[in-house]
Amino acid sequence: MNIQNIHLMYFSPTQTTRCILEEIARGMGRAAATVTDITQPEIRSRKPTVFESDLVLMGAPVYSGRLPKDAARYFSRLSARGALAVPVVLYGNRAYEDALLEFKNTAQACGFVSLAAGAFIGEHSFSSKEYNIAQNRPDKADLDKAFAFGQKIAGLLESIQAPGEIGPLTVPGQFPYKEAVARGPMDFIQVTEDCDGCGVCIPACPANAIDEANRYATRPEGCIYCCACIKACPQGARIMKEGPLKGIAKMLSESFSARKEPETFFAGR
Ligand SMILES: Cc1cc2nc3c(=O)[nH]c(=O)nc-3n(C[C@H](O)[C@H](O)[C@H](O)COP(=O)(O)O)c2cc1C
Ligand code: SF4
Ligand code: SF4
Repeated sequence: MNIQNIHLMYFSPTQTTRCILEEIARGMGRAAATVTDITQPEIRSRKPTVFESDLVLMGAPVYSGRLPKDAARYFSRLSARGALAVPVVLYGNRAYEDALLEFKNTAQACGFVSLAAGAFIGEHSFSSKEYNIAQNRPDKADLDKAFAFGQKIAGLLESIQAPGEIGPLTVPGQFPYKEAVARGPMDFIQVTEDCDGCGVCIPACPANAIDEANRYATRPEGCIYCCACIKACPQGARIMKEGPLKGIAKMLSESFSARKEPETFFAGR
């Protein structure tokens, strides 16, 4: 099928989703015509593009078995006429539950035909030196699988003439989706004396939730717990306080240490 362009579009506070999407594109052997990183609120506030005769590799992390709300809201505003989608989720070695189904359904509601989908594993946002949860993933084996997934998508495209030939795509998940977890504001980040005021954490935050004027403290009301600021801080000056979230990190590191592998799905014909 003659796809005019491929586009990358992702929400990726700690970069694992971006990394896998880029590798899939490499495997497809095509340079992306556009790359839209919707992690930052300014980008999400722009009017989304209408896609025609193109393929969009779209990616998002799994938050509590669902898509992050900000990402879901943006993706649901896209529109497509005859364009194809490949929705991909990244999860932290626990489970992706309904997130991939939600992504596929969201793309379909916008008018995309989903050709394939994938669930890959990324280092958990809550992972740290103390509590290792899928640390350093995606690793080489994950990237090889992402590359091979891209190659297979390219092969599929060559074998079809028009979106009408693409059959249904089945992915794991249940509808109605699981209830979104309502976490109240949590003050879970401590800024230590190692902070040198470099400001790197400010643009790393997808929620404008860091108060420069208050010694880079986090505003709990806006925070989405993505831990991007913790991972981006060059001084290691942002650390998780003792509390519920650190308790979850400990539990995840103990209960989900067995390695999970990427899964890919392809539409029927
Ligand atoms: C609030 C929150 C909820 C999460 N929920 C899940 C989950 O339900 N299952 C899971 O395996 N990982 C979960 N994760 C981990 C992320 O899905 C994982 O680290 C992902 O690779 C992050 O993507 P990014 O690097 O593109 O930000 C969660 C992370 C956060 C911040
Ligand atoms: S990135 Fe770290 S060192 Fe730099 S301002 Fe933020 S907390 Fe301080
Ligand atoms: S302040 Fe909260 S939302 Fe912002 S980067 Fe840190 S954890 Fe993520």
